[in-house]
Amino acid sequence: MENLDLNRLPKHIAIIMDGNGRWAQEKGQDRLYGHFHGVQSVRNIVEAASEIGIKYLTLYAFSTENWDRPAAEVTGLMSLFVDTIAKEVPDLHKNNIKLHFIGNLSLLPDDAKAALENATLTTANNTGLELIIALSYSSRWELIQAIKNIAEKVQNGQMQPDDIQEATLEAALSTSAFPDPELMIRTSGEYRISNFLLYQLAYAELYFTETRWPDFRKKDLMEAILDFQSRERRFGKTSLQVQTND
Ligand code: FPP
Repeated sequence: MENLDLNRLPKHIAIIMDGNGRWAQEKGQDRLYGHFHGVQSVRNIVEAASEIGIKYLTLYAFSTENWDRPAAEVTGLMSLFVDTIAKEVPDLHKNNIKLHFIGNLSLLPDDAKAALENATLTTANNTGLELIIALSYSSRWELIQAIKNIAEKVQNGQMQPDDIQEATLEAALSTSAFPDPELMIRTSGEYRISNFLLYQLAYAELYFTETRWPDFRKKDLMEAILDFQSRERRFGKTSLQVQTND
């Protein structure tokens, strides 16, 4: 922690929380046992991010593709989300954390929708860490929604195809209120993006660790941020240009 440069923190960190199932199976337990323990990592990482002053944290909790998992796992995960969100909201609120949910939320069961709505409303005026949970989310789904939205505007004559800029698409994404993530972390040794924030991660630094999500703690987050701080972010420029601020 003392090695971190607090003036050069990534504003937005996105995390693919992977490896709950393998963590549980390695212990001879059911996959849901892994998800249950994954919640402790969520709590620990949210606390750490908030403490050091990260402004935005996006967690990939459930993908559109995850609906195809065995019914018992999907049902178990949904109850875990509802219970965890209901239980954690008072503490999140006390810590000035503002919650957002992105994804195809219409597919969620009614009790989950109600829990999400309550969490969003309760924390709406908070000014600290913005915690974005991607639930029933996939980037291709999000892009298609955005394109439909823009196509409708063109059809209604509100804009011309030539008016479409990067900002037009960005405004139509579910992440329109947040800056792009600067650091993306994926746990558990998989080197993929898995349909997560495909547009928004264009310039993100990618960090992969073998650590399974239920074992991921503050010190692992600090290591990822330290690694981020050791990188040179060039955005297509040359190293010399970056160093001379040209
Ligand atoms: C990926 O591991 C994890 C998930 C699909 C679920 C993540 C959910 C949590 C951490 C629970 C709590 C979250 C919130 C926001 C309340 P995996 O099952 O794909 O693991 P595997 O690749 O080892 O099978």
